Amino acid sequence: TNFTDYQAESATISQGVVESNHAGYTGSGFVNYDNVAGSYVEFAVSAASAGPQTLTFRFANGTTTDRPMSVSVNGTSVVASQSFPGTGAWTTWQEISVNATLAAGGNTIRATGTTANGGPNLDRLRV
Ligand code: GCU
Ligand code: CA
Ligand code: CA
Repeated sequence: TNFTDYQAESATISQGVVESNHAGYTGSGFVNYDNVAGSYVEFAVSAASAGPQTLTFRFANGTTTDRPMSVSVNGTSVVASQSFPGTGAWTTWQEISVNATLAAGGNTIRATGTTANGGPNLDRLRV
């Protein structure tokens, strides 16, 4: 019911760049992951209490090839390979949700490209 948006362009980025050349993003842009395995975006997420949460990633993948990513919370893997399939165009954004248990207070949520294509373009994380 209640949620908070964490913009990818404001997160910690390793091997990626903030861009805004494909319309439809929210906030001020999105992260273009470098097309290399291991590129990641890490969000600092605050939770009022410990417990299960739905992590919803908004992304675009203008190719026809999946861009799977691993998702970890506080260094622990939640999903080893979450599919981020083609969305039809770089301007077509879709959401994918992952369930995870968060700690009370600060959490680090990292989404890492697992293939040589890197991740999709990532707009935001909604928790
Ligand atoms: C294109 C597109 C980028 C995207 C890249 C990719 O260059 O403009 O936004 O990140 O393809 O294939 O990863
Ligand atoms: Ca890219
Ligand atoms: Ca954004």
